[in-house]
Amino acid sequence: MSVVVYVGGEDNEPWCRQLQQALPEMSCRVWDAVEDANEIRFAAVWQPPVGGLAQFPNLECVISFAAGVDHVLCDPELPASVPVLRLTGELLRARMREYVVLHVLALHRDSVSILSHQRNQTWLDTVPLAAADRRVGVLGLGELGRDAVTAVAGLGFDVAGWSRSRKEVPGVACFAGDDELHQFLARSEILVNLLPLTPNTQAVCNSNLFAALPEGAGFINAGRGEHVVEADLLAALATGQLAAAILDAFPEEPLPADHPFWSHPQIWVTPHVAARLDATDATKLAAQAIREFQRGERPGLVDRARGY
Ligand code: NDP
Ligand code: OXD
Repeated sequence: MSVVVYVGGEDNEPWCRQLQQALPEMSCRVWDAVEDANEIRFAAVWQPPVGGLAQFPNLECVISFAAGVDHVLCDPELPASVPVLRLTGELLRARMREYVVLHVLALHRDSVSILSHQRNQTWLDTVPLAAADRRVGVLGLGELGRDAVTAVAGLGFDVAGWSRSRKEVPGVACFAGDDELHQFLARSEILVNLLPLTPNTQAVCNSNLFAALPEGAGFINAGRGEHVVEADLLAALATGQLAAAILDAFPEEPLPADHPFWSHPQIWVTPHVAARLDATDATKLAAQAIREFQRGERPGLVDRARGY
C-alpha cells in the first residue's frame, strides 16, 4: 500500500522521507518517482498539479498538508468519490492563535503606522485605547476561528465572530449568515479573515465589506489571497476607510517583487506563515490522518459539496 507525496514549491524528498518515518507500515513515494500508479492508495499533498490526482485509479483518500483544501478541490478532475481530509489539531491552532493575537495587538496599538512613521523619523503622538474599548471581529468560527476569538477575548477585547451556522462561544458575540454580516461588520474595528476559500467566499473582502466597517478599521487576512479584492483594499486604504492591513496569503505566492503591497506604508506582508507547519509536524499529522482513516475515523473529513 503506497502513499504519494507532493508539496508544491518545496523539495519533496525530505517530506517523503519524514512521512515514511512516521508511517513505516506503508511505502511513500515522491510524485515523480511513482512507477505504478495502481499501487497508490493515499495522496498527501500541497498544491498538487491540476489533473494529477486523477492518474491514480485506486486512490482511497487525499490528505491536504494544510488546514485549507481549496488547493485540492480546485482540481476539476479530482475523482468525485474520493474523500479529502485536512490537517487539524493543536499544532495548527496554536500557531494561528499566535498570529491572530500578535497582529490584532499590532493593529490595536497602531504599530503599522508607528513603524511607517519611524521610517520618516517621525514621532507619532498616539494614545492607546483600552482593549475593552476595541471591537474585534473574526470571519469564520471553525477550528481556527473559534480558537482565535477565544484567545483575543481572553485579552479583554470586545470580540465577535461570524459563521454560516449559529455558534456559541463564551464571551464572544456570535453572528450567523448573510443576514447578520452587516451588523457584524459594523462593529468590527479590527477584522480578521479566517474563512475557507470556497465559491461563496471568493472575493468576499471587497469594497462593500470594507465600506461596512467602522471608518479607520484594521484588516488582517489569514485566509486566502483570493478572498480579497486587491484593488478594493488599496482604495479603502487610500480613503482612510481602512487604516492598515496585515496580509498573510496572496493569489500568487511568493508575492511578486513588483507588487504594490510590498512597499505600501499601511500594509504589512507576512509570507504565508500564520499557521505554517514544518515537514516534521505536517507529515506527523498526515500520518495520523491516514491511520485514523484506515480505522474508519474521519476527524478532518471535508464536505466536498460545501467546499470546506
Ligand atoms: P473550518 O472549516 O474549521 O471553519 C470554517 C469556518 O468558516 C466555519 O465557521 C464556517 O461556518 C465558516 N464559513 C465557511 N463558509 C462560510 C460562508 N459562506 N459564510 C459564513 N461563514 C462561512 O476552517 P479552519 O478554521 O480550520 O480554517 C479556516 C481557513 O484558514 C482555512 O480554510 C485556510 O484557508 C485558512 N488557513 C490559513 C493559514 C495560513 O497560514 N494563512 C493556515 C491555516 C488555515 P460553519 O461553522 O457554520 O460551517
Ligand atoms: C493552511 C495553510 O491552510 O497553511 O493550513 O494555509
